[in-house]
Amino acid sequence: MRRPIVAANWKMHKTVAEAEDFASAFLPKVTDAVDVDVAVAPPFTALVALGRALGGSRIALAAQNVNPEAQGAFTGEISPDMLVDAGCAYGIVGHSERRALYGETDEFVARKALALLGRDIRPIVCVGETLEQRESKRTFAVIGSQLEGSLAGLPAGRAGEIVIAYEPVWAIGTGRTATPDMAQEVHAFIRGALREPFGAAAETIRIQYGGSVKPDNIDALMAQPDIDGALVGGASLDPDAFAGIVNFGAATGSES
Ligand code: 13P
Repeated sequence: MRRPIVAANWKMHKTVAEAEDFASAFLPKVTDAVDVDVAVAPPFTALVALGRALGGSRIALAAQNVNPEAQGAFTGEISPDMLVDAGCAYGIVGHSERRALYGETDEFVARKALALLGRDIRPIVCVGETLEQRESKRTFAVIGSQLEGSLAGLPAGRAGEIVIAYEPVWAIGTGRTATPDMAQEVHAFIRGALREPFGAAAETIRIQYGGSVKPDNIDALMAQPDIDGALVGGASLDPDAFAGIVNFGAATGSES
């Protein structure tokens, strides 16, 4: 079985002090009753401090981005080794905001994912269609081609370390969530597409849903067979809301 993974993507939010405050408020609220991996991706400036604040807990540290080069004249960039140094276990690559605002291509995303694996950091590879692409019935074509390009060259033997995040662009920060059925339909398509490069190992790859995930919609999403967790933006900034998501199932008391 795939162990679910819920990750917070703070984007460009929180100072060091705010990240530390989050950790002290959030940690006591996380129940051990739910079998789930949890990670938080703060801005680079808060990685080390947040790592210290989370130290000894089961909450992992994640980066929001990485440069695939090992070192060199790349002003403003952060290397995989620097993320190891900061204590990152995961790294987000190919977020739609980076693709749309900073022109990141599938090929660049694949290089980042490979570079992370090279340093034993698990890549969270994001894919997702825009509203226009969905309405013109190109969702599967777009996601299929993003997957093919963004996973190019990743060794099948490392498949289990890769996480895919399906984040429909129209659902990000809009309060408009894909229904569980809509999300499941795309997750099942992604699972099928992963069988091409990775064979049976595709069954071990965790596929997160992202896009306006909240404590009150996480249970229905997690009930879907191919939804293995969530990548959470806005709601992850609030310790109560993020704990409500991480403690899915247990949060409602609906599980025995
Ligand atoms: P929201 O949860 O704010 O919609 O953001 C989703 C996202 O982009 C996470 O990476």
